[in-house]
Amino acid sequence: MTHPKIEQLRKLKAQAQLGGGEARIEKQRSKGKMTARERVEVLLDRGSFHEIDSFVVHRETHFGMGEKKILGDSVVTGWGTIDGRLVYVYSQDFTVFGGSLSQVHAEKICKIMDMAIKNGAPVIGINDSGGARIQEGVVSLGGYADIFLRNTLASGVVPQISAIMGPCAGGAVYSPALTDFIFMVKKTSHMFITGPDVVKAVTGEEVTFEELGGAMTHNTTSGVAHMAAESEEDCLYLIREMMSYLPSNNMEDPPFEPTLDDPLRADKELDDIVPDNPNKPYDIKEVINRIVDDGKFYETQEHFAQNIVVGFARIGGHGVGIIANQPMVLAGVLDIDASEKAARFVRFCDCFNIPLIVFEDVPGFLPGINQEHGGIIRKGAKLLYAFCEATVPKITVITRKAYGGAYCVMNSKHIRSDLNFAWPTSEIAVMGPDGAVNIIFRRELNGAADPVEKKSELVDNYRENFANPYEAARRGYVDDVIEPHETRTRLINGLNMLQNKRDTNPPRKHGNIPL
Ligand code: HXC
Repeated sequence: MTHPKIEQLRKLKAQAQLGGGEARIEKQRSKGKMTARERVEVLLDRGSFHEIDSFVVHRETHFGMGEKKILGDSVVTGWGTIDGRLVYVYSQDFTVFGGSLSQVHAEKICKIMDMAIKNGAPVIGINDSGGARIQEGVVSLGGYADIFLRNTLASGVVPQISAIMGPCAGGAVYSPALTDFIFMVKKTSHMFITGPDVVKAVTGEEVTFEELGGAMTHNTTSGVAHMAAESEEDCLYLIREMMSYLPSNNMEDPPFEPTLDDPLRADKELDDIVPDNPNKPYDIKEVINRIVDDGKFYETQEHFAQNIVVGFARIGGHGVGIIANQPMVLAGVLDIDASEKAARFVRFCDCFNIPLIVFEDVPGFLPGINQEHGGIIRKGAKLLYAFCEATVPKITVITRKAYGGAYCVMNSKHIRSDLNFAWPTSEIAVMGPDGAVNIIFRRELNGAADPVEKKSELVDNYRENFANPYEAARRGYVDDVIEPHETRTRLINGLNMLQNKRDTNPPRKHGNIPL
C-alpha cells in the first residue's frame, strides 16, 4: 500500500498539473493553443523536463484573491534538454489568471534565470500572458523589472529565446525585446505597448490586433520578431533547430557537426551565377545554399529588410553566422533597417563565438531624404561598429560590388576581417563607373562633340582600371581572387585555419555603440 504522505504528494502534484482546471484548459484548446506544459513537452527531448516550484502560490489577499490560490501559480518553470543539451524553460500558463505576472510568477522565472546564468545554459521563455497581475499592483511591476534586469545581465552570457504564443502587451514586451531571438506564431500571438482600443482613444487610428502587433507585422514591418511560425508546433520545432547552431554559453564554441558533404565539393554553377550585366540581380540565397553543408541555411528575420540576408549554417561542420547583401532586393543596398538587422546579428554571433561569413555585393548606402532624416548615419554606424568590435573568425567573399563606405563596413580587411576573398566578377571602388565618370570627367563630357560616346568610352576605361578586384588585391586588401566554385573549399580551409583565433579589444567597461 502506498504511504498516505506519498499519496498526498501525488495528489498535490496531479492538482498542480491541471493549472487553472479543465474548463480553462478546454478554452485554451478551443483557441488552437496548447497548454503551458504541452508546449514544454513538445519543445524538450521526450521525458527530459524537470519542473520546480509547482507548489508555489501567490501571496495576494486583496480582491478576494486569498481564496483563489492555484498550485504553481501562472507559470511553469524548470529545465530539460534539447538534443541532449541542457536548457532552462519557463512557460506562462494562461489558464491561471490569464497567465498574468504575479510576484511569485516573477520569482519563479528569476530563479531559473539565475540558475541558467550560473550553470551556463540557454533560457527559453514561452509567453502567453495578460500582463501585470492587476490585483497585485506595483508588486507585479517590480517583478517585471526583476526579470528585465536578469535578461540584461544574461545578455551575451547565455542565449535567450522568446516564443510569443498569445498576448504579450504593455511593458511585458520588454522582456522578450531584451532577449536574442523572438519567435511568433501566426494569428495567435500579439505584441504591443498599447492595444487597438488605447491607440484609437489616443490617436484616433483604427487598427486590428493582427495589423498592430501580429506575427507578420513584427516580422515584416517593425523588425521586432525574428521568426514567424505557422503553428505552435512549428514554432517549437524551429526553436529546437535554432538551438543546434548555438553554444550553451559564451565560454563554449558552437557545436561542430561532422558532415558527409564533401569539403572539396566544387559547384561549377557558381562560376556563372553573377550576370555579366552589373545591373542585373541574382539570388544571393542560391549562392549560400550551394556553398553551405547540405544546402541547409537557417535564415532569421527572413521577411524584414530583405536587402540583407542573415542566418546560421554549417560549413565543413563549423557552425557559422552568414551576413549577405541581397542583389534581388533594392540591389542589396544598405539602408537603416538592413544595417540594424545585420548589426544585431553580428553582435549576437560575436557574443557566442560563432564565426562570421560575409557575402558582399553592395552598391553603397541608400540615398534619400527619408534615410538621412531617419538617421542612416547613426544607424549605419551600428553595423560598422558591430563588425569592427567582433573578435570571432571573420571571412568575407566579395561576389560583385563593394562600393564606397559600404566596402569598408561589410567586414573589410581594414576592420579586422581575417580573410577576404574576391570573385573575378568583383568591382571594388569608391563608386560605380557611371557616377564616377560624371564627377571626375564633368568638364570633358561637357566639352565633348559626342557626350554619349565620350561617356561610354570613359566608363569602359574606368571599369577596366577600377571596377575589378585586382587593384585591391595588389594592395593586399583582398587576400586572394578565387574562382567561385572554389568558395566552399576555401571557406572550410579558412575556418579550420582560424579555429584557434584569439583577438581582444582594449580593456574598458563597455564600448558605446551608436544606439
Ligand atoms: C489579472 C487577468 C489579467 C491580468 C487576464 N486576467 N488578464 N487577471 N491580471 N492582467 C484573467 C481574467 O480575469 C480571466 O479570469 C482570465 O485571466 C482570462 O482572461 P479573459 O479576459 O477571459 O481572456 P481573453 O478573452 O482571452 O482575453 C485575454 C486578454 C484580456 C486580452 C489578455 O484578459 C485582457 O485584456 N487582460 C488585461 C490585459 C492588460 O491590460 N494587462 C495589463 C497590461 S499593462 P477568469 O477568472 O475569468 O478566468 C502591463 C504592464 C506591465 O502588463 C509593465 C511591466 C513594466
